[in-house]
Amino acid sequence: MSAGLAQAAYIVAALFFILSLAGLSKQTTARSGNYYGIAGMAIALIATIFGPHSQGFGMIIVAMVIGGSIGIFYARKVEMTEMPELVAILHSFVGMAAVLVGFNSYFDPPVYSGEFAHTEHVIHMVEVFLGVFIGAVTFTGSIVAFGKLRGVISSSPLNLPHKHKMNLAAVVVSTLLMIYFVKADGSTFALIVMTLIAFAFGYHLVASIGGADMPVVVSMLNSYSGWAAAAAGFMLANDLLIVTGALVGSSGAILSYIMCKAMNRSFISVIAGGFGQEISVSEDVEYGEHREVSAEDVAEMLKDSKNVIITPGYGMAVAQAQYPVQDITEKLRAKGINVRFGIHPVAGRLPGHMNVLLAEAKVPYDIVLEMDEINEDFPETDTVLVIGANDTVNPAAMEDPNSPIAGMPVLEVWNAKNVIVFKRSMNTGYAGVQNPLFFKENTAMLFGDAKESVDAIAKAI
Ligand code: TAP
Repeated sequence: MSAGLAQAAYIVAALFFILSLAGLSKQTTARSGNYYGIAGMAIALIATIFGPHSQGFGMIIVAMVIGGSIGIFYARKVEMTEMPELVAILHSFVGMAAVLVGFNSYFDPPVYSGEFAHTEHVIHMVEVFLGVFIGAVTFTGSIVAFGKLRGVISSSPLNLPHKHKMNLAAVVVSTLLMIYFVKADGSTFALIVMTLIAFAFGYHLVASIGGADMPVVVSMLNSYSGWAAAAAGFMLANDLLIVTGALVGSSGAILSYIMCKAMNRSFISVIAGGFGQEISVSEDVEYGEHREVSAEDVAEMLKDSKNVIITPGYGMAVAQAQYPVQDITEKLRAKGINVRFGIHPVAGRLPGHMNVLLAEAKVPYDIVLEMDEINEDFPETDTVLVIGANDTVNPAAMEDPNSPIAGMPVLEVWNAKNVIVFKRSMNTGYAGVQNPLFFKENTAMLFGDAKESVDAIAKAI
């Protein structure tokens, strides 16, 4: 394939990626967005494999078959609830790839000629250093995010003494090493020391962030992995990699910003490893007694209601209760009861998690509302079903300034006449904080697996 043709293919692929992102921004067009992405990636792969710089065709195919098989195996096996973990570990691969490309490009630099050869060489050295730095931070940061999401690393924030000073020192020392690296026209020692610092920095940055802020961290790491790919694109002089990396980097950053706004978190504070958040967890609070109900009681209560709102959370996903939930929705709507869904922006374990599950169960889109669209309607609601949600309906976010989730907007379910909470125990949610909602007078607990409970209600209705 000629260089011109390969370049044209890269432009077409980049356009497909942009169309893909546009499509993925709405549920109704998400499927076509995926197809655009697949088409763009297929074109990009063909142009790279058969392009003018292609070397070792056989080796690329072997690597693709091995990598592709592992990818297909895990993508098919992964549960929807484990998706963020998979995404986090994939980000770590992008980070490691940038580190390896950086070292490779340092030991085997491109040869520049002409008037600007020296300038180009200096720029290349900076690219190598920055690429390795971003890649290393992304690598360890993503591994910690994976561990926290999987539950193998504690989700509470690591609070080392002088943690912000340590972060600052890591950035300052790395910057000084970069100046030395460029001035000395390369130094393996400086590159290795910076890589080790960046590994530790990435680890510490994410470990310092509490469970409640993890969604933002995952999308932030998504953004970092994009910048790491773009840096690799600069090192390899590959325009498509630069464009794709920049698309991922900027869309990840925009998503993180939107999520920070939705959770009333400071963007800078989250990316700086929890900077400015000094939280004291208030333990040993007397919450009082909670009340329990049976599925049959809930069915009666629902039949007597005019307005019902269902607020699902992570527990609905775990129990796969979306199908019986759709079943009771249909039954109640057939009786003329107004049933709607209130979706918190970070309900579940990844953005849009609940919307995908409900769409899968064929709940009509027009009764699935965002938190802001429905929050004012709770006072006129007879019954709220909180199905496997916890942090997203926690009044402490509004009432307790010392709570780790203080300031995060929540679904104000307690303003309804009756609230039924579906869960298996009195355990806390992801952020690890107790929920005073469970002890309110108008709240009753329906203990058990959410799917079994909803099934029992459907039967009783
Ligand atoms: P959580 O606060 O995690 O609460 C889920 C509740 O579901 C738990 O209290 C659990 O209680 C219950 N549960 C689990 N399995 C169940 C089952 N089989 N049947 C019935 N109940 C079950 O969920 P949420 O309200 O959706 O809030 C989301 C949290 O995850 C937030 O803190 C958010 O920051 C975090 N997070 C979100 C994302 C994104 S982007 N959405 C990503 C990562 C983390 P029991 O154990 O007592 O049953």
